[in-house]
Amino acid sequence: MKPLVIVNFKTYKQSIGSQGLKLAKICEQVAKKFGARVVICPQTADLALFAKKVRIPVYAQHSDAIEPGRNTGFLSPAEAKAERVKGTLINHSEHPLSLREIKKLLKLCRKYKLISIVCVPNLGVLKKVRDLRPNYIAYEPPALIGGKISVSEAKPDVIKKAVEMTKVNILVGAGVNSHKDLKTAVRLGAKGVLVASGIVKARNPKKELIELISGN
Ligand code: G3P
Repeated sequence: MKPLVIVNFKTYKQSIGSQGLKLAKICEQVAKKFGARVVICPQTADLALFAKKVRIPVYAQHSDAIEPGRNTGFLSPAEAKAERVKGTLINHSEHPLSLREIKKLLKLCRKYKLISIVCVPNLGVLKKVRDLRPNYIAYEPPALIGGKISVSEAKPDVIKKAVEMTKVNILVGAGVNSHKDLKTAVRLGAKGVLVASGIVKARNPKKELIELISGN
């Protein structure tokens, strides 16, 4: 199976509103052209619109461990599902949750049939979440997020270990910016990568995404 490439739009100004939609369309075009598995995580307010506008999976950057009800300003898995969102990141290091919340959220993801990606900053946290059976665990060392040195270059041994430690599919992210990073991650046993700044903040996001996916 082709590696998964998840583009996290975060809340960068380059992914706000119409610019975000342009970026989402670029991801769709590139995915189609290369037959690649690309998922986008747009800004939260754009989830419903983009899920209608593009034919690649749209995941939330974060969801809350709540059922519909008296919760102001939260995103429930039920609402995400109703808006055609296909999955969610959970416990990103920029939006961490307690283990109790992660557990509850995973139950809700199963109930509402959302793909779950639990992010972990290190192997200690991986150990705590692996038995909760998320669809993916994403290893993202916080110190490398948003930087130029990728997790593939800086932490190959940790990626290998993460893959050995669990049957859950492993993704990796932080500093990913080239096809070489993607290839290295896959060679070490990861099923794909998460990428943000290398695409979203690039002068030419399309060119960077093509390079990441195809090496050209
Ligand atoms: O979720 C992916 C993200 O945290 C990685 O960010 O900017 O290092 O690609 P970046």
